[in-house]
Amino acid sequence: MANQDDQFKKVISHAKEYGYIFQSSEIYDGLSAVYDYAQNGVELKKNIREYWWKAMVQMHDNIVGLDAAILMHPTTWKASGHVDAFNDPLIDNKDSKKRYRADVLIEDYCAKIEIKIEKEIKKAAKRFGDAFNKEEFIATNPRVLGYKEKIERILLRMATALQNEALEDVKLLIEELEIACPLTGSKNWTDVKQFNLMFGTKLGASADSAMNLYLRPETAQGIFVNFLNVQKTGRMKIPFGIAQTGKAFRNEIVARQFIFRMREFEQMELQFFVKPGSQKQWYEHWKKTRLQWHLSLGMGADNYRFHDHEKLAHYADAAADIEFKFPFGFKELEGIHSRTDFDLKAHQEHSGKKLQYFDHDDNTNYTPYVVETSIGLDRMVLAVLSNALVEEQLENNTTRTVLKLPAVLSPIKAAILPLVKKDGLPEVARNIVDELKWDFNITYDEKDAVGRRYRRQDANGTPFCITVDHDSLKDHSVTIRHRDTMKQERVAIKNLKTIIAQEVDVKSWLMKM
Ligand code: GAP
Repeated sequence: MANQDDQFKKVISHAKEYGYIFQSSEIYDGLSAVYDYAQNGVELKKNIREYWWKAMVQMHDNIVGLDAAILMHPTTWKASGHVDAFNDPLIDNKDSKKRYRADVLIEDYCAKIEIKIEKEIKKAAKRFGDAFNKEEFIATNPRVLGYKEKIERILLRMATALQNEALEDVKLLIEELEIACPLTGSKNWTDVKQFNLMFGTKLGASADSAMNLYLRPETAQGIFVNFLNVQKTGRMKIPFGIAQTGKAFRNEIVARQFIFRMREFEQMELQFFVKPGSQKQWYEHWKKTRLQWHLSLGMGADNYRFHDHEKLAHYADAAADIEFKFPFGFKELEGIHSRTDFDLKAHQEHSGKKLQYFDHDDNTNYTPYVVETSIGLDRMVLAVLSNALVEEQLENNTTRTVLKLPAVLSPIKAAILPLVKKDGLPEVARNIVDELKWDFNITYDEKDAVGRRYRRQDANGTPFCITVDHDSLKDHSVTIRHRDTMKQERVAIKNLKTIIAQEVDVKSWLMKM
């Protein structure tokens, strides 16, 4: 646990030191669970968004985009169920006066049991060496099976209690498991209460006539209310999808995991409209496709797993998370939900407008079913950053801090470095910048010894450093250094564009899907 905490702290401070993420309004001591993206962060975020958009919209001729407003008619949220059911179960510790999400306390308890399982696996792997079969060990070892059974029992009981609104049983579970306040160790808990997560705001000039609105807690509803507009104007045939990226807002009560749980965050969502009865097949399709998207980034297959939901949201008939191994354990990165026809039907009822599809193939009218994929862009930034940050031991007994970002996502693709600040080298370097910047985000750096500049770019996550030296004046070549291997090679200046493109081109990465 201590190691995990240390790694997480390193990610947070690295993100600040290298211009990725700052606390919002820091000069006023910050605003909790709200963050700003700095010069590198904004590029990383943009690259992830683009990687998602290309995979989802550009590569599918039956998926189109949308950019709906954050503010929506308030009835939207009544229809969607958010006014009545978008709640978190909260519990207060009477001694520490700290407030927690009851379900998160229980999930964290289970995460600790998971860590025990991992320890058993590590111990056994050491004991059995090459003969170790991980799958067989997990499936047969009595201690591991006992731990797994315990986790399942606890999560099922919690899910049932939450589903049935039996909040007293959630409290009982916390007490029976002897879960203590993480800050003080106190087990003196209040009852569990539901708390609505939507942020309210007002539209209109005078207090009397102002209309109460909500900041959208998910982008999905903007898609549902536009379903027919897009279907008709785009002449879309089912199955088809509408994709959207944009801000969402939730008044998260327990928000202390950096950009993992924020009050203002960005989602990348797809609503895929299908014929009733085919939703199961499409749900499986999108589970598989989305996992492939993640795997194409090469962040390690072992770092992902599916978690099938036992407690289904009010709109879903099946749901799973793609969980990622963050520094604090496996947690939800993306949700895939089979949302049935709940949303379209609800909007139809509340608006009095028909939201149906006429299927020319079999001359039927129906309300489509929806399969949704929903990923938090900020959570993806955190996954990428925490996976990339490594302290590498070098052969000469020194260490280097390197951000091994997938090159396609790196904020800056290449740094152009004149070996010295004289003899015409800066001019050649500037010319290279001017040529490459049409295609890539490039930086120029002439300060400090070249070794220090390499280290700076390693920590920034820049995949290439390109050094201009005195020979460059004669042979029109430069030294290109690869971030991950630190290998250096001499290449012609005229070939730089092709060499960089090979490593950072979205196409070559997405082709791995
Ligand atoms: N439209 C479905 C929906 O909103 P969700 O599971 O509540 O489902 C989807 O959210 C994704 O949005 C999550 O998997 C997560 O990545 C991201 N997300 C949710 N709440 C978040 C928060 N407070 N901060 C950052 N990301 C969040």
